[in-house]
Formats: sequence, structure tokens, C-alpha cells
Amino acid sequence: MIIANTIQEVRAHVYGWKKYHTIGFVPTMGYLHEGHLSLIERSVAENAKTIVSIFVNPMQFSPTEDLDKYPRDLESDKAMCRKAGANLIFYPQVEEIYPKDFYSYVDMEGLTKELCGKTRANHFRGVCTVVNKLFNIVAADRAYFGQKDAQQLAVIKKMVRDLNMDIEIIGCPIIREVDGLAKSSRNSYLSLEERKAAQVVSQAIFKGEELVKSGEISAKNIIESMTKIVQTEPLAKIDYIEIVDLDTLEKIQEVTKPTLGAVAIYIGKTRLIDNFAVY
Ligand code: PAJ
Repeated sequence: MIIANTIQEVRAHVYGWKKYHTIGFVPTMGYLHEGHLSLIERSVAENAKTIVSIFVNPMQFSPTEDLDKYPRDLESDKAMCRKAGANLIFYPQVEEIYPKDFYSYVDMEGLTKELCGKTRANHFRGVCTVVNKLFNIVAADRAYFGQKDAQQLAVIKKMVRDLNMDIEIIGCPIIREVDGLAKSSRNSYLSLEERKAAQVVSQAIFKGEELVKSGEISAKNIIESMTKIVQTEPLAKIDYIEIVDLDTLEKIQEVTKPTLGAVAIYIGKTRLIDNFAVY
């Protein structure tokens, strides 16, 4: 497995591969867990070559967010990538991606302003910009993203369509802990008590999904039931619980077409997101 720190090194390998092989790409911020692993394994199964990027992207964090304390463990990440069969890790320093004279951004309107966009103003500008740059660097045929970050997946699909990028975006299912909590690098911030309290997040999601599957179409009723579950936990504070159109992410009153039920909930100081999608 190759570890490349520079864009030039990545390009040199990709140049050789491109002629004969399909390339799969999994962008990450590292501190890999089974959620990331599922994307890497899928890419390895579907492509001759798999590239994983590990880059904690400063542009997608606001000044008040957790950039400095974002967890990192390169050795463990390397071992997981190697075991999963990845061919190359792109592990750049910040200056490699954002040199001092960097002035170009990908700014999307519409769906970036919904859900998490309401409280994380420039987050998706940072995500779109870095993902666009990474796509240009790795020149992959397919890129793999988790349904865990449903808004991110919808935004990336839209960016690829809007800007005619020649890459296929593949959404992969949410991987969960035994008690239902969606795996996330940020779960490591939770104390033992908070970790237990965090169960209400997935419980609310499962309730919403169950209601939709049993025929409930009123978004108001679904949100009310989900809210009640979260409110049983004193450590939980709701940022949002919403029922939206799966593509536009706009609020809907009735579940009659592909729908996303999405939540962001603070457990103590840690903000957790989760969702269910119905097609
Ligand atoms: P990161 O949070 O490291 O996630 C990398 C990828 O792993 C994303 O596509 C995310 O949706 C997926 N993922 C995380 N937890 C998952 C889980 N429990 N089940 C399935 N997939 C999961 O998302 C980012 O990094 C960044 O925003 C990035 C796209 C790399 C741009 O900087």
C-alpha cells in the first residue's frame, strides 16, 4: 500500500493506473472505524484500485468547532486501509491542499442551507471545495460516501450533476454499534454516561422509520413521536428533527415520495447526527 503525501505523487500513480484500471475513491478525515471500512471494502470489491484520502479539512470547521481536538490515529488508519485492500492513502498536509494563495471555492445554494446548513453556515462550502479538489487529484471513476451524512451525500451528488463532473457517486448504508448508535469518529468525545444517553438518537430514528413503514404519512406526527423519545433523556438537546424531501432536503408535510428523516442532537457538548431514508 502506497502512502502519498503530495498531489504529484498521487498523480504519478494514477497516471499509470488510469489506462487499464477502474479507480474507486473514499474521502475521509481519518480516525477510521467500521463505517469508513464498509466504504473502503465496497470500493475494493468494485474497482481494480482504491484510493483513500485522510485529511482533516480545516475549511469545513467553523472557528467554534472541534478542528484542534478532532481525533487522529494514522497508524491505526493505515492498518485498517491495508487490511481492507486499499492501494493508496493520500495523506496531505494542510499547505498541500490550501497553499497561501488559495482563492477558489465551490459554493452551492439551495440544499446546503437546509438541515445542518442552518447552524453550520460555511460547512458545505468547505466540504464541496475539498471534495472537488480531491476528485481532481485522484481522477477516480467512482467515489463512495456514507448515508450517515445524508445531507453531505445529497450535496455531493448535486455538485457532480451541476458541474458535470465525470465521476459516479455511490451512497453506502449506515453502520451502527450494537445498541444502534451510528458509528462516528465523534463518538469518542462521549463520556460513559453520555454514551448511554446517546441511545435516544438512534431510538428516535428507528421510531420514525417504523412509523413511516407502518403507513404514517403525517410529518408532524412522526416528528412528535421522535421528539418524545429524545425528551426522555435529560442529557439530550435537540438541534433539529426534520422530515424532508430526499433530493431537495426541503421540509415536507406528508411522506408520499422519497423522504429523509434527519436529526441533529447534542449529547452534552457533542453534536450527533443520524437519519433514515425511505424510497
Ligand atoms: P468523515 O467524517 O471521516 O467520513 C468519511 C466518510 O465515511 C463519509 O462519506 C461518511 O458519511 C462515512 N461514514 C462515517 N460514519 C459512517 C457510518 N457509521 N456508516 C457509514 N458510513 C459512514 O465526511 C467526511 O469525513 C468529510 O466531510 C469528507 C467527505 C472527507 C470531506 O472532508
